[in-house]
Amino acid sequence: MKNSGTIMISFLLGIILISNYNFSEAAGREILQDCKPSGTITGTNPPPGQCNQEHDSDCCKAGEQYRTYTCSPSITSQTRATLTINSFEKGGDGGGPSECDNNYHSDSTPIVALSTGWYNGGSRCFNNITISYKDRSVRAMVVDECDSTMGCDDDHDYQPPCPNNIVDGSKAVWEALGISDPDDVGSLDITWSE
Ligand SMILES: *[C@@H]1O[C@H](CO)[C@@H](O)[C@H](O)[C@H]1NC(C)=O
Repeated sequence: MKNSGTIMISFLLGIILISNYNFSEAAGREILQDCKPSGTITGTNPPPGQCNQEHDSDCCKAGEQYRTYTCSPSITSQTRATLTINSFEKGGDGGGPSECDNNYHSDSTPIVALSTGWYNGGSRCFNNITISYKDRSVRAMVVDECDSTMGCDDDHDYQPPCPNNIVDGSKAVWEALGISDPDDVGSLDITWSE
C-alpha cells in the first residue's frame, strides 16, 4: 500500500510537470509566432492555360485549404525571410502589374515583392531594402506585394496566397547573391533590413 501511494504521488507529480512543460512551450511559440493566420481560402483548379509554371510556381488545387495572413513577423535589424523567385515582366509568373506603380518591370533590375504584412499597404514602395545571404548582400527596390490575403484567382495567376515571410525577388536579386539558376534552388533563407 505504501508503495502504490508513492507511485501514485510520483505519477501525479509527473503529470503536473508534463502539463507545465507543455504550457510554457506553447507560451514560447506564441511569442515567436507574433503573426497568426487571418483565415483560409479554398482552392479552385486554374482554368486551362492559366497558372504560369515558369519558376515551378505552385498552382491552386480544387478543394485544398490555404492559410491567409494580413500580418508578417516583426521587422528587426535582420529580419529572417524566405527568398523566392518572381518575374515582374508582362506575361511572367507574377500575375498582374506591380502593386506600387501598376507597371511591369525588368527582371534584370534588383526588385522585390514583400508579403502583405511587410508591404504594409505600400509604405515601403520604391524604398530599397538590403537582402543578405551568407557573405553577400544586394540592395533591391520594393515594387510589389506578395499577397498573403488572397490567391487562387486570375489576379494572382491561380497561385496560392503568399506565406507571410516572403521576399519575392527578380532574377537580378538572385544573381547578386551569387545564384545564377534560382529554379534549381527554389527558395533561400535570407535576412533583410530597411
Ligand atoms: C533605390 O535604388 C534605386 C536604384 O539605385 C534608386 O533609383 C532609387 O532612388 C532608390 N530609392 C530610394 C527611395 O532611395
